[in-house]
Amino acid sequence: MPDTASKLTSKPEWKALERLQQQLLATPMTRLFADDPGRAERYFIEGAGLSLDFSKNRITDDAFNGLLALARSCQLEDRRDALLRGDKVNTTEDRPALHTALRNPGNAAIMVDGVDVVEEVRNTLDRMETFVTSVLEQSRTGYSGNPLTDVVSIGIGGSYLGPKLVGEALQPYWQGSMRCHFVANIDGTDICETLKLVNPETTLFLIQSKSFRTQETLENSAVARQWFLDHCGDEAAIATHFLAVTANVADAEAFGIDADNVFPMWDWVGGRYSLWSAIGLPVALVVGMDNFRKLLAGAHAMDSHFRDAPLAQNLPVVMGLLSVWYNNFWGADTHAILPYDHYLRSLPDHLQQLDMESNGKSVNEAGDPLGYETGPVIWGGTGSNGQHAYHQLIHQGTRLIPADFIIPLKTHNPVATHHADLFANCLSQARAMMAGKSLEVARSELKAEGLADTEIERLAPHKVIPGNKPSNMLIMDKVTPETVGALIALYEHRTFVQGVIWGVDSFDQWGVELGKQLGKGILPRLLGEGEQTSDSDSSTDHLIDLFRSAGGQ
Ligand code: F6P
Repeated sequence: MPDTASKLTSKPEWKALERLQQQLLATPMTRLFADDPGRAERYFIEGAGLSLDFSKNRITDDAFNGLLALARSCQLEDRRDALLRGDKVNTTEDRPALHTALRNPGNAAIMVDGVDVVEEVRNTLDRMETFVTSVLEQSRTGYSGNPLTDVVSIGIGGSYLGPKLVGEALQPYWQGSMRCHFVANIDGTDICETLKLVNPETTLFLIQSKSFRTQETLENSAVARQWFLDHCGDEAAIATHFLAVTANVADAEAFGIDADNVFPMWDWVGGRYSLWSAIGLPVALVVGMDNFRKLLAGAHAMDSHFRDAPLAQNLPVVMGLLSVWYNNFWGADTHAILPYDHYLRSLPDHLQQLDMESNGKSVNEAGDPLGYETGPVIWGGTGSNGQHAYHQLIHQGTRLIPADFIIPLKTHNPVATHHADLFANCLSQARAMMAGKSLEVARSELKAEGLADTEIERLAPHKVIPGNKPSNMLIMDKVTPETVGALIALYEHRTFVQGVIWGVDSFDQWGVELGKQLGKGILPRLLGEGEQTSDSDSSTDHLIDLFRSAGGQ
């Protein structure tokens, strides 16, 4: 076992949790509820407009306290304070991770390499406000003088998933006639189909790329630029219709974007944490700046809760520790995100990048191999749709899959009894996962249907639901800018909490680079312009030949 593993796993706190897990193995959650009338009330915490019922987890007070003790032994509070203070917690890139500064309404300076980032954030928000207002009030128009009606946001990864999620989530707050579209994929279908929906005279193109070096974004932007020029024929109009959000102003200008149309990004903000910066512009353009500021306020409320709430009542801490509990002590290798709200349909996609890009690591901050599991596979989708797809595997499959249910108490679209139906579905799924159905109950149900004994014995095992599948229930009053901000910030901090326990740098992402590097060698070969290199293999060579002989283009 690597030294790093034994440093964590030989802690007395870890050993105690291993013993508690063994004891709990044979304890059904139904018994925990039956023996403890105060369980639901005790395992219910609130913060920043969100409530968490975590009573349907395979924990007792001993296990819960054991997890908190593990967190303390990993200096979670010190690490959290270092993050919020702006220490260089991203050690491999020697940077702070100051996404919390993007939503901090305070004026106290936070210095990074001699620059006050608070002032930079305030200035950028003011610039965004001026720009958004000019578009929504139509003092800024398209090149032909018509009001702007559409914004096409071109970006990928963190420069795409967050704005897309929030743009959709806040659709009830869309103002005026502005619509937003998102293009990410290098698959030309993405940009081509989007361009069919918009009019060059009334469309803004927002190139979103922290590095301004990302292949997908640059190639899609080039297509959009050419399409725009083909229609309007006037290079000067680019300055009216193309904007960029980037830390690489020089390359944005070289692309033809006016310096006044470049909004800043900074090294101290990670891509997957950048929604709160000018990367959020497509959202601000459709919901208006007031609502965008409310989104920031919701996230800031969660930052304050994370900073101030005692660990046992701290939403990101409790959720992060429960994730570690299942990941490292119960062998769960995936975690389901199940929003029961159509507006939150892209939450699983955003959290997939947030969590898996942050904690998909095999070495600690010192570069030593870990020897224990880190980030689980994050997946999911909206309820009730998922109930008719993958919930079967959660209920009766062989794997343990912890799940987060997320649901608002009130809907924006009251129609017949739909929202109560949705809520009933959500609660019944969480209860079915927890309580399951025993063989005895399955038998008696079949008997009540009048089946013969042999038929009952044949069918009953198939109707058994083992239960004991853990879940969290995360509740908000309604999907609003504030609650959406708090929800996303909650998961950001949950990701950080897990990373602290595992001892990894949650803010770098070196693993995504190799594929990009190799792509540079493969592309010329597909285009018939490059030679075979030693950095290849017979499978890759064969597939390149297949593409070439099919005349692929
Ligand atoms: O490839 C991963 C990644 O680096 C993400 O972390 C980032 O959000 C995305 O690419 C896009 O990067 P950029 O904003 O620089 O185009």
